[in-house]
Formats: sequence, structure tokens, C-alpha cells
Amino acid sequence: MLDVRPPEAHSIIDTYRARTPRSRQLLEQAKGYLPGGDTRTINHFTPHPTFMASGRGCILTDEDGNEYLDLVNNMSAIVHGHAHPALVDAAAKQFARGTALGAPGEVEAQHAQHLCSRIPALEKVRYCNSGTEATMLAIRTARAFTGRDAIVKIVGGYHGMHNDVQVNMFTSMTGPHHAQEGLPDTFPKATLARGVPHSTLRDVFLLPYNDLEAAEYLFERHGRRIAAIIVEPMLGAAGCIPATAAYLRGLRRLTAEQGALLIFDECATFRVGPLQLSYGVSPDLMSLSKIIGGGLPLGAFGGRDDIMAQFDPTRPDPLYHASAFGGNGLSLTVGLAALETYGPDEVARLNATGEALKTELTDAARAAGLKLDITGIGSLIHLHWGEGPIANANDARDRWTSVADLPELLHLALLNRGVFVSRRGVLCLSLPMTREDLRYFVTAWREALTELKPYIARELPHLLRDTAAA
Ligand SMILES: Cc1ncc(COP(=O)(O)O)c(C=O)c1O
Repeated sequence: MLDVRPPEAHSIIDTYRARTPRSRQLLEQAKGYLPGGDTRTINHFTPHPTFMASGRGCILTDEDGNEYLDLVNNMSAIVHGHAHPALVDAAAKQFARGTALGAPGEVEAQHAQHLCSRIPALEKVRYCNSGTEATMLAIRTARAFTGRDAIVKIVGGYHGMHNDVQVNMFTSMTGPHHAQEGLPDTFPKATLARGVPHSTLRDVFLLPYNDLEAAEYLFERHGRRIAAIIVEPMLGAAGCIPATAAYLRGLRRLTAEQGALLIFDECATFRVGPLQLSYGVSPDLMSLSKIIGGGLPLGAFGGRDDIMAQFDPTRPDPLYHASAFGGNGLSLTVGLAALETYGPDEVARLNATGEALKTELTDAARAAGLKLDITGIGSLIHLHWGEGPIANANDARDRWTSVADLPELLHLALLNRGVFVSRRGVLCLSLPMTREDLRYFVTAWREALTELKPYIARELPHLLRDTAAA
């Protein structure tokens, strides 16, 4: 087959291959038992994913012994770095006492008290094992409370693996596009993940992010059918796109007017906030996960006392909620240690570090004569090639689809320099990162841009700043 890859690709990919032969070998072995050689689709990348052997602080070591500064942090689910001493200690002590004793434990209320004290709108909380379960149960809770079936989700909003939210969770989804019943053609078309029943669409409305007018139209016509809207205060997977305050306030007003509930999915954004505090908008319900378990699986959902009271088992006909490992002592004990060592001061400090890093990365791209926008809040950052407003998932998609091989080459060029990043351009900071670590990253970033500049100039001239093009 004719290889039409640009010359820069050959040298970057060859270097990556030469550094990671054991990853390649482990992938081939794994393929015998795991489809594609792994369990998470998101872990896969070409020519082969890096197999990691261990992590300590903000440094990962791969199976070939290469070290990396970790800017993936398990897709934002880790903020303490790896093997944080306080969390290792908490895990060891709790493991020795038993992991899941099949009965309530004191730590459950302690973790809950900590969360509730940090989030005023979280009056009561329940635990589960993942963000998927947290959003699924928050939606179920809203349906039970309102007696309505329909929900609203945002195009590009990722809330986990259950059917209701596996609709337009990525803008790259292929498959049939369905017009939304009862809405004009200007509204987003719905695309289902494979395996999700078409009937799901009966009860799911889709809205573009940051578009209050569209939300007003929908709520005016169908508000009385809607149990809840589930929305992230910053659209995460689609590109770390912050909501405008007016948008979130508008959703708060619309839901209240129509007797629907406002659910904030703060599974990812708790680490930079929670953002409901910075926006000053209180949801009725929320979902939490990722860093609240300190590196172990833990999800939580909760909110208004009168809504969550449906779960009280002493009531007649309570909402049923079961989970073999829900609220297990190990996740909660480590999670509590995680919350205690990542309080509001640490959130603010890490966010400030993230904002400073954004400026340095932007300046370096500008100095290299390249057009780049960086979105995100604090320790959650997203790179978007090109220039212009990014208000929703389609804006971010348009940037992504206009840059050909650049994300792949930049990704591998950074891996080759010992920086572990994701291909889609998300950067997540962690507590152990020092100034020196970030300086190391900025140097690697500058070098990677220099290496890629000839390729960009030739293949993607629209990314050159005018001064450089002249
Ligand atoms: C905002 C948000 N909600 C929900 C989820 C699902 O969480 P989990 O992967 O733990 O099921 C994620 C995961 O990436 C997320 O980012």
C-alpha cells in the first residue's frame, strides 16, 4: 500500500515505536483475550498505546522503563498523582479491616458530611461506584420525583454508558441522524450509540450548549414533559468549554418555571470547583465521581433533601437503590483522605497553576507563529488548533476536523519527549506537579512545535499566524 504520510510522521512514529517495543508486544499478547487488547476504547491510539507499569506522584513509568510527566491523570479522575502517601496509608489500613462489610459504616456519613459541607446544594447524598451510575441514578431520581419521563441532554455532553445519555455524546458519532420529534429542523439531529434502542429517543431531547434561546423554545413547547436537564457547567469531553453564567442562570429559571429539575454533572468539574459555587447557580440534583474516590471507583449523586428523601427506606414505597460495592468502605476511606488533602485552598492553588500554564502554552504557540486557542478552567485544559469562538461541541469539532494528522503527531512528539498527554488535547494537572515539572513540559511543548512547524506550514497553512506567513 502506498504510504502517503508526511515525512515528519515517519520520524515521529518510528521514534515512538523504537522507544516502546514492550508496549507493542504486550498489546499483541492482550489481543488474544481482550478485543483490541484493552478494556477502555479511550485508551487506544495508533501505532499502539503505551503500556504503563507504575506511577508515583506525577511521573508514570512505562513497560520499557521510559518515564513520563503525567498530564492525563486517568482522564481527569486523578488529582493527587499516583501512590500519594496519605491515600496509600488510608487504603492499607482499610484493606486490613475489610473492604466491603455488607453493612453501613461510619465512614459513609463522614465522606457525605465532608461533601455536603463543601457544596450547599448537596443536602443529602447517596453513593455508587462510577460516574455512569451517578448520572443514571440522578436521572432516575428526577423522573421518580416529577413523575415525568423526558430528559434533556446537551450535544457533546458525556455522562457515562447508560442508554439515556449515549445519545450525541460525541460529535464524531456515525450512524443515522434522527430529527427530534416536535422540534424544528434547526434543532440538533439525534445519533444513538450502537446498541442503544431507538425507543430511547422518545424521552431524550437534545440541545446545543450555551444556547439559551434553543432551551427556551424547547421548554416553552415541551416543558411539562421534562423531568430534568442534565448539563455540565463546563462541557468536558467535547473540549473543556465553560458555560456562560447567563446560560446556567437561564436553565435554572426555565426548569423552575416548568417544574423540571436541574441536574449538574460535576463528575469531572468537582476538581476545579465544584463549578456551581463559582457560577453561583444551585442545581436540584448533581452527580459526582472521579477524584472523590482518591483513585478508587466511587460515584455519588444527591441534592435537595425533599427529592433525595425518596430513598429513605423507612418511607412507604421508597426508591430502590442497590449496588454490591456501593458505598464500600475502601473507596470511601481513601476518598475521604483525598477530600481532606484536596480542599478549597488546594483547588484554588492548582487552578492558578493551570491558568499560568495556559498562558505559557499560548505564548509558546504564538512565538512559533501558530494559531491555537486554549479553553478550560484551572487544572482542566483543552487545546484547540485555529482561532475563533468555541461555545459548543460543534465549534470544537470544526477545529478538530480541520487539522488532519496534527493531533496524532503532536501527541506522539510529546510522548517521545516524556510527556504523557491525550491525543484529543486535554491536559489535566495534579497536586504533586512542581514548577520544574511544568517547565519541563513547556520546553517539550516548544520543541514539539518546532519539530512540527514544517509539516504545519506545508499541510495546514491556515494555522500559521499572519506574521509568520508573511
Ligand atoms: C462529566 C462526566 N460524567 C460522567 C462520566 C462517567 O463516569 P464513569 O466513567 O466513572 O462511569 C464521566 C467520565 O468521563 C464524565 O466526564
